[in-house]
Amino acid sequence: PKRGEFLYEGKAKKIYATDDPGVLWMYYKDDATAFDGAKKGVIPHKGIMNNRVTNLLFRLLEKNGIETHLLEEIDERNVLVKKLDMIPVEIVVRNRVAGSLAKRLGLEEGTELKGTILEFYYKNDELGDPMINEYHAEVMGWATREELKAMQEKALEINEVLLPFFDSIGIILVDYKLEFGRLDGRIVLGDEISPDTCRLWDKVSLEKLDKDRFRRDLGKEEEAYMEVVRRIEGKLAGL
Ligand code: C5P
Repeated sequence: PKRGEFLYEGKAKKIYATDDPGVLWMYYKDDATAFDGAKKGVIPHKGIMNNRVTNLLFRLLEKNGIETHLLEEIDERNVLVKKLDMIPVEIVVRNRVAGSLAKRLGLEEGTELKGTILEFYYKNDELGDPMINEYHAEVMGWATREELKAMQEKALEINEVLLPFFDSIGIILVDYKLEFGRLDGRIVLGDEISPDTCRLWDKVSLEKLDKDRFRRDLGKEEEAYMEVVRRIEGKLAGL
């Protein structure tokens, strides 16, 4: 397909139509934002690295029977994806205490959890993505009970694949955010899974290899993202 009309610009990507109504064109930017857009910057080559990481992880998930929107990597910043009817509810998967969970419950970052925690957030920039529960999502008409249940099941399946995969490359998958959409009655994984949307800690040094380096002014963002690319490619290059 050919790139068509510009449709939408998000914080990290631009979306275009193509000559196929079922296919969208996604362009990954280097722009970095945090705290609901209050902090802005650029991480050089971030778009290239996030496109690469997402596509490799999505192929790994597809190989494990989890449908994603990925169709075809065009080049280092551009990818073709299935057009989904996006559900405005994000699901966060937590394997360890960090970030807003640490803050909200007064827990120390890094504390191990006895199980996996799933949380729903309403995707709304002006409101800063507030945390919600199933009742909010259902009553507001954002998703049906069945869709929410399917999202939870898929999130746990994805975690069963990603947690051991990251462990095998020496990384603790602390937490991450997923977005799903509807396609022909199915619930399909969309958006991205990258150092922008995950907390990734080196298993040995506990060094942060994710967007917290930008949020917390730790520096060496590009190097950290590159390290993630390098380790994932080392394992999945042929995929
Ligand atoms: O901020 P919080 O601790 O709730 O974030 C949990 C995880 O979800 C982090 O890995 C963060 O990068 C990701 N996240 C995201 N997009 C959001 C909110 C959180 O990628 N809008």
